[in-house]
Amino acid sequence: MSRFQSGQPGAGDGLTAILGAGALGQLWAGYLALAPAGNTAARSRVGFVERPGTNPASLCYQLQTPQGQASEVSVSFLDPATDRPSLLLVTTKATDVLSALKATLPSLPEAVPLVLFQNGMGSQQAVAAQWPDRPVLAASTTEGANRPEPGLTVHAGRGQTWIGAMTPAAEPLLSQIVTLLGNTGLAVMPEPDIRARLWQKLIINAGINAFTALLDCPNGGILTAPFYLQWIDGVCKELHQVMIAEGLQSPGAGELRQKIEAVARSTATNTSSMRADVLRGRTTEIDYINGYVADRGKALNIATPVNQMLRQQVQQLSVTPGPSAT
Ligand SMILES: NC(=O)c1ccc[n+]([C@@H]2O[C@H](COP(=O)([O-])OP(=O)(O)OC[C@H]3O[C@@H](n4cnc5c(N)ncnc54)[C@H](OP(=O)(O)O)[C@@H]3O)[C@@H](O)[C@H]2O)c1
Repeated sequence: MSRFQSGQPGAGDGLTAILGAGALGQLWAGYLALAPAGNTAARSRVGFVERPGTNPASLCYQLQTPQGQASEVSVSFLDPATDRPSLLLVTTKATDVLSALKATLPSLPEAVPLVLFQNGMGSQQAVAAQWPDRPVLAASTTEGANRPEPGLTVHAGRGQTWIGAMTPAAEPLLSQIVTLLGNTGLAVMPEPDIRARLWQKLIINAGINAFTALLDCPNGGILTAPFYLQWIDGVCKELHQVMIAEGLQSPGAGELRQKIEAVARSTATNTSSMRADVLRGRTTEIDYINGYVADRGKALNIATPVNQMLRQQVQQLSVTPGPSAT
């Protein structure tokens, strides 16, 4: 017996299910449930997928916009017996995607598209490889959301979201999904080369996140730290070599470093998600950032000792919380 009933296959006019009721999941749920600027026609039906073994009814929270306006949001958890999602947004951490989808997908008709919102790389490829006949899409988003206290989700800053197909079955559905998610008022664009787009964000994350976690500092704090200055050229050299071997364009290690440092300066006071995870004692996404670069280097026979070192040091932080670099 399916946990979900089959709705209209594909996307565009049905119920949107969200797997992962955290900061990003609550952001999308809120924007889907609330009409932008009073445009009730753009309102969508949305519900969270419950964790197996739990039985929550609904989730109520305040969603605060970047301008500081708060709206009350109430989103139900889906009823497996009656709800018929036509789109699934996956907003768990990269570390949880496969296990969460293994619990959810056996009950979801194969035509229902999945949009993966994880940072870094590797989890998207793993999902596409595991379910190659499903419509799988990946999103690269610069929207920022956090939950500073229970019951409050803050949309910290407006960004942009690019979505692209990871499997052939997703390609004909891309524009409908972009339209549906763009009806929220958030900026959503189709991306014909989602792998290159994900790599662009990976470069920035690989050059900032691990350093902020190890140095226990906001993004701008890395720029003058001896540990960062010692290793950033090595990170960029390895990124450049792996990108070229992957058949991607790279402007060279020096320009990659400039891109990383421009973002570190423009987000100088921000706490990266990796530093936040370490401070909360949560598993980080390091395996999907510097760890992904190291894994691809290994597969392509390219030495990536600096990315591997950063991965190991961040993994150590989860075992022994606290900054380790100087
Ligand atoms: N937040 C942002 O601004 C942002 C921006 C860009 C990209 N992203 C990416 O989006 C992803 C989610 O980030 P986030 O900040 O929203 O993380 P988060 O707040 O930790 O949310 C993840 C949610 O997934 C839930 N979850 C984990 N395993 C599950 C399962 N098997 N079934 C159902 N739910 C499950 C978690 O529940 P528990 O808390 O109970 O474990 C949590 O509520 C990450 O990959 C992140 O890198 C986030």
